[in-house]
Order: sequence, then C-alpha cells, then structure tokens
Amino acid sequence: MATVAKTEGIKAFSATHDWESADYEPTLPVSEMSNPLTRNIDRAPASSIVKMLQACDAQMFQEKSGAAYERLLSDQVAKSLMEVAKRVQLILKNPQDSLIVLSGCGTSGRLAFFITSGFNRELRRLNHSAVCSYIIAGGDRALFSSQEAPEDDPISGALSLKKVSEGKKRVLFIGISCGLSAPFVAGQLDFCLQHPDVYTPVLVGFNPAHQARNEPIPGCTFTFHSVVTKMRELAKMQKAFLINPVLGPEAISGSSRMKGGSATKILLEVVFSAAHAANFSRTPITYNGILQHMRSYGKVLDITYSQTEGIAAVMEAAGRSLQCGRRLCYLSWGFLGLLGLIDASECKPTFGADHKDIQGFVGGGCKELGNKEGDLNLMGAESGIAHIDFLHNVLPCLTDKDTVLLLYSHSDDVDEVAKLARRVREKTSNMHAVYHQTDGDTAAQQGEINKLCSSTLNFIWPQATPASMGLQHMWELSTKLVLNAVSTGAHILKGKVYQNYMIDLQVTNSKLYCRAARLLQRLSGHPKSLCEEALLKAIYQVDKLTEDIMTCNLTTHTHTARKVKKVVPLALVCLLTGYSIKEAQSHLEQKPIVREAVEACLREQTLFSGSL
Ligand code: F6P
Repeated sequence: MATVAKTEGIKAFSATHDWESADYEPTLPVSEMSNPLTRNIDRAPASSIVKMLQACDAQMFQEKSGAAYERLLSDQVAKSLMEVAKRVQLILKNPQDSLIVLSGCGTSGRLAFFITSGFNRELRRLNHSAVCSYIIAGGDRALFSSQEAPEDDPISGALSLKKVSEGKKRVLFIGISCGLSAPFVAGQLDFCLQHPDVYTPVLVGFNPAHQARNEPIPGCTFTFHSVVTKMRELAKMQKAFLINPVLGPEAISGSSRMKGGSATKILLEVVFSAAHAANFSRTPITYNGILQHMRSYGKVLDITYSQTEGIAAVMEAAGRSLQCGRRLCYLSWGFLGLLGLIDASECKPTFGADHKDIQGFVGGGCKELGNKEGDLNLMGAESGIAHIDFLHNVLPCLTDKDTVLLLYSHSDDVDEVAKLARRVREKTSNMHAVYHQTDGDTAAQQGEINKLCSSTLNFIWPQATPASMGLQHMWELSTKLVLNAVSTGAHILKGKVYQNYMIDLQVTNSKLYCRAARLLQRLSGHPKSLCEEALLKAIYQVDKLTEDIMTCNLTTHTHTARKVKKVVPLALVCLLTGYSIKEAQSHLEQKPIVREAVEACLREQTLFSGSL
C-alpha cells in the first residue's frame, strides 16, 4: 500500500496529481516544478505547513500503475539498485586497488560525505579497510557552509575525481545531482566515460533522463544531457547505471535538499546495506530484499509525521525567533549533528538567510566528523561548529527570543546532553528536543531533560526493525525530515516564501541565476529579456546597464551577486513598479517581510492595470 494512503488528513492533499500531466509546466523538469499541494503554503499556519510537507514527502513512495515516470519503488529502479549493490560488493570482496567515490554539490555533496563516513565507519568496526571516498564541490568548507559557485566548474569536478582515485585500477563513481544539472558532476561523469577501463559511472538524480539540463557548459563540448545520453547507451550493457526515479516537485520549488536529499540518502543506504549484508553475512542481494528495504523507509515517514503538532510547535517557535531577527540553534551529539549542519547550511541559498539565522553545533566539531581536510575553523571563530564554539560565541547572548533545538538519541551520552541543556536553560526557556529511542529503552536523565525543554519530539522506534535497516538510518531520516520542516516552516513564517517559491534565493551559480530569472518572469509577466535586465540591474545596483556589465559572463554576474542582499525581490519591485534601484531598496526596507513587499507590488500592479 502506498504510504500516502495511510493518514486520513493526507488524502485530501494527495488528490492532486496534475503535475504529472504533459501540459503541467511543460518547459520545466520535475525537480524545478511547483508542487500543486503547496501552492498556498505561504499563508498556512504551522500545523498545515507540516501536513503539506508530509503529503509532499509521501509522493516519494507513491506506486501508480501506468505512471508516466519511474518512481522510487519502480521495477527498473530496484533492478539498478541491485546491480550497483553487486558492484559495491565486488569492491568489498576485493578492495585492493579499488575505490567507491560519492560526489555532489551542496546538499548532494554533504550527503555524499554523510553516507561515505557512515559506511567506512561500519567497515572499520569490522576491521575491513575503508573503501569509500567523497567529493564535494568547493571542498570541505562546503560541508558546513553554503558554497554554490563551485557547482558550475566541470574541470574542477573531473580533477578532484582524478586526484582522489590516483593509482586505483577499479573505481565505482556515484555522482549525485538531484536536478541532473550540476556541471561539476557532469565533468566527473564525462571523465569516467573517457576512462572506461577504470571507472564505472553511476548517476543518482530525480528527473527523467530526457529532462537532464541541456544548456551549454562554458569551455566544454558536453552538456549534462549529452553525458546522460551516453550513459543510457552504456547502461544497456551495464557499463554505466542511472538511478533516477521521479519524486514529484519539491514543496518549495527547486528545494532539492528536501525530497531530493531524503531520496539520495534512502537509495544509497539501500545499496550499501545490501552490499554489506551480502559480503559480511552472506545475505544474497535480491529484488525483494531491495524493495522491502525501500518500503521500510516509507514507515519512517509515518512515524515521524505522526507528531505533526509537536513539529508544528517547534516550527512556530523557530519562526518567531527568525521574525524578530534572532536565531535557531541545533545542538547535537554524534552523527545526527551532521544533519543539523546540513540543514542549516542550505538556508542561505534557499531563503537568502544569514549564516547566523540557523546554526548547527555538534560535540567536538570537525574532529568528531572526520572530514578529509580536518579542522575548518579557518572560516573564523564565529563559524565554529563544536559545542565549545556554541558556549563561547552564542550562549552568552542567548535570550528567550532564540530557539534552541537539542538533537539526540538513546545511544548518545545523555549525561552530556543533560549538562548542556542545564546551561542553555539558564539563558532561555525556549528550548526543545528531538529524541530517538527504541521501545523499552529509557535513559535516566531523560525525565530531567524533558522538564528543561518546552517541548520534546520523542520518537520511540520498534525494537524489531527490518533486519536490513539499521535503526540509526531511521533516526537520521526522521531527524532530517523534522529539521527540513522546522527550517523551511520558520522561513515561510518569516515571509521568505511567496506561494511555494523561494523569492529571496541567492543568485550564486548558473542554476540559481536561471531559476531567479524564471521566477521574475512568472511573477511579473514580463518577457525573459526584461527580467534578465532587471536581475542584472539588481545585481550590479545600477539603473542603467553599461556596456561593461553586458559583456561580463555569467560567472562574473553570479560572483557579484554574492555581495548583494535581496537581489530577486529588488529586481521584482523594479519590474512591477518602474522604481529605480534606490527607490526599490527603500520600499523593501519599509516592508522588510519580503512576501508582503512582493504582494503589495503585485496588488498595486493589478489595481493599476484594472484602472486602465
Ligand atoms: O545550487 C544550489 C543547490 O540547489 C543546492 O541547494 C543543492 O543542494 C545543490 O544545488 C545541488 O543540486 P543538485 O543535487 O541538483 O546538483
């Protein structure tokens, strides 16, 4: 049974499937479409926001006969997962001179790191050599902070793959690009295709192959689309693999950190768990085993969203903090902490947030996480991610207006959790917790921590979980869903979303630039050329575009855009009102809630055109 059918309240939402019809936003790939379920998410109260997110997530597991697209539970997806798991198993069996590389940009790269670390840790526990490595566009600093520009660099993608696999005779390369769009990953896949004796390429993404990005990549003879086309040919001979189920549009259009990120985690964990079980416990890799494992992730959605009211309460608290310019901090222990860091880092490109709006802190920071480049405090003391950084930089100025969310599980050092919770409670009563435990296990300090917190999302997981799926994987996915909901909802409540569009996105790479231009077209109704002009004027803060600006390339535009705030709202106000950049800026200052500013302009425009 499809997960979506389980919860009564969800039925109403799931009735709308029109995004699958051929004439629904026909020029857009699914990953960029707007989801009909969330069209009014910007005006919904917190509990409805959570329900909409639940309905969107449930789309991942929908099984429809005769559906236009392959889905997570489709036959072909399960078969490809089996084949890739067999390749992983071969490397586990004979690790010498072999390597598995996971790579991606933004959240996809962060999840590459997350999954690689978890798998290698498990191998080391069994005294097996680590066989997995990760690459993230922009290097390790992109693990914990938003670095969008490196996504556009296919050469650096290929070089980083060459470097990490130097001297290896057999490499299974898994490139992740939710939108089948990142030039960085396209460069790596192309490199694999040029060296088929060593590299077997696997692509994970969430659009049908024909929707892969087909824009020219400066300096390259290939596009993402042409690489995918070659891979499809090779896939017939199992020399390349495509794992690209469609998940339905994201709840916030284009926000692939949400379903895209969750599905990446699910698919790769299924592959690695199956290979691991085959190698260490002689459990054969079977079609049914793969499918059953996938379905068990659907249950994680049910368990997590069974606490809608609790999630909504944390979302409201976080929303209040952001509305008054205060912050939300995730304090965590162990690997759940990495999910907090991942969630926080995406808020900058998605909502134009400041890096201090939502921050994650995990026990010993980088030391604990084991990233390749070690301690990253180069980014400045203020950006430290360890608890010690929280204690020095954040705790002294915390007030009730800030929200603190503890993320921990029964297997963490709960004494430590209680200690830190007491210190936080001295500064703010606005502390909440997400706590995972198994049925029957209780930590002595749990009661005290609960009392210190204004609310606790206590997830109790059944002991008898499907053998193939670690409890930790469930806790992780569940935590990811909660954090995505809280940070997305808090930004919605702050007015950073219009309908279901990110209206204050950063324009820091080519994909985001195109997304911004498209959004301007959609909201203003003006032609593409005018919208791009307005976008450039906002980026360069000028009322007239000079020859110099017009001849700059896209990289210069996106590089310049990094330094400007509210680029898209600014361009939109100019487009709708004819204001100069200065006037538009002062208009936005008077109406700091971006959604309200945009609505006011749209209203004026409608009145104006009505009176003509
Ligand atoms: O460029 C920003 C971004 O959209 C991130 O938000 C996202 O995680 C990253 O790009 C990677 O996108 P994709 O997985 O589609 O390549």
